Amino acid sequence: MNNKTYYITTPIYYVNDKPHIGHAYTSIACDVLARFKRLDGYQVKFLTGTDEHGQKVEKSAQQAGISPQDFVDMVSESFREMKELLNLSNDDFIRTTEERHITSAQAIWQKLEEKGDIYLDTYAGWYSVRDEAFYAESELVDGKAPTGAPVEWVEEESYFFRLSAWQDRLLEFYEKNPEFIAPDARRNEVLSFVKGGLNDLSVSRTTFSWGVPVPGNDKHIMYVWLDALVNYITAVGYPDQANDQYQTFWPADLHMVGKDILRFHTVYWPAFLMSAGVEPPKRVFAHGWWTNEGEKISKSLGNVITANQLVDVYGLDQTRYFLLREVPFGNDGNFSRTSMVNRMNAELANNIGNLAQRTLSIIYKNCDQMIPEPPTAYAPDRTDALEQVRTHLDKQAFHHALAAILEIAGNANEKIDREAPWALRKEGTDEALAKMRQVLYELADDIRVIAMLLQPFIPDSADALLSQLGIDAAHRQFEAINTPIKAGTPIHKPEGVFPRFLDEE
Ligand code: MSP
Repeated sequence: MNNKTYYITTPIYYVNDKPHIGHAYTSIACDVLARFKRLDGYQVKFLTGTDEHGQKVEKSAQQAGISPQDFVDMVSESFREMKELLNLSNDDFIRTTEERHITSAQAIWQKLEEKGDIYLDTYAGWYSVRDEAFYAESELVDGKAPTGAPVEWVEEESYFFRLSAWQDRLLEFYEKNPEFIAPDARRNEVLSFVKGGLNDLSVSRTTFSWGVPVPGNDKHIMYVWLDALVNYITAVGYPDQANDQYQTFWPADLHMVGKDILRFHTVYWPAFLMSAGVEPPKRVFAHGWWTNEGEKISKSLGNVITANQLVDVYGLDQTRYFLLREVPFGNDGNFSRTSMVNRMNAELANNIGNLAQRTLSIIYKNCDQMIPEPPTAYAPDRTDALEQVRTHLDKQAFHHALAAILEIAGNANEKIDREAPWALRKEGTDEALAKMRQVLYELADDIRVIAMLLQPFIPDSADALLSQLGIDAAHRQFEAINTPIKAGTPIHKPEGVFPRFLDEE
């Protein structure tokens, strides 16, 4: 039985929209971590899905002129298709309209109620449908939500969650779990928000009906965020806490979220869980937002970049690579065609692609189409390279992890230029040819390590490289990082893995 486990989640996506660069970003980041952990010997659960209730979705269905159920069935499908489109390795896909989820959401509600943390009153205040969030008068900026979203006045009977009573326990929890909120700047934001005092939270609505009915009073439906957050425990079988999935995977190791939904995940969610007697997740990481050529991305500006467009124009692994390489994870980033093309050409096509293509072509032509026998054994300790990538990824520093891998490629490129195996072949003496075999063997093994470490980021391309080198599946797991490539392994005629992007514009 494998006791190293890892449970990672994306936010569940609202089904009012087509998958775009923001959704792709979160999902790809999670996929890289899930793949890394599997290769590193962990039993992994990677969850994603769709958030299908609430006023925003109901309105979108009305605008589309179809029933909410038909609407969510249709749109959630386009999110499910991200799995193929982006080569995601999620193990489950949850929809909040599923029976398993409705049971789970109602069960946690009952726990909160038994605990005395839910009471009935009246809500009178502002609500933003776009954000699905309540705002205090004092938070409004020029009559709008701090996010710029329009707000409407709501006055209705509502259940409340006694969030105010959880302030001290939350602060104590953050104190004891310094890794719970990342990056640090975000942690500080949350801390000062909670220190500023918490109001009780309205957790039900009565003026529309597209949601999970409140147990015992179906005039009310549950607030969509309470409903949505529960998905993370539904997927491990809640309310059954004795089952295998729950025992193996809860508490989750990481909820990946965008910076806009941090408060829901780091204030409301742990309070709900603690109230229900469930352990909070171990970590929430908030990443930044993408702009498009310097502009905020929005439907009204018509500059939304869909996940489909990215893959169609630039390619799948190129997209995956760019999104995690371009911007220090946690910061905001700007998408531009120029920087995308530069990264693809300079780093994938030149640094890695050319290195592999040059090395393998010389081997193919001059070493009987097999990995040559090196005169001197070459088996450098690769533990450190792996450990560097692991440490960076445990902090969600994707850009550092990739930089560490590129450094190995940089060293190999220096080696090939310095040792010039083509010149050694031309020289043709026994000594020169022995040296050539040595250099080519070393380069092949360096490429093996680079490709192994790149597997989580660019799975198809890394697979192609490892296949060209004749590395079998068992030797692609990280425990085999120190098993050098076998001399005598036949190789196929090498084909370029990373095409250069020729910009017609
Ligand atoms: N349904 C909620 C999440 C519930 S989780 C219990 C939601 N959905 S969303 O579809 O609106 O957003 C999903 C994610 O996409 C968020 O993490 C958000 O930060 C991210 N992004 C949306 N636009 C983005 C960019 N332009 N750039 C980067 N990420 C962005 O919120």
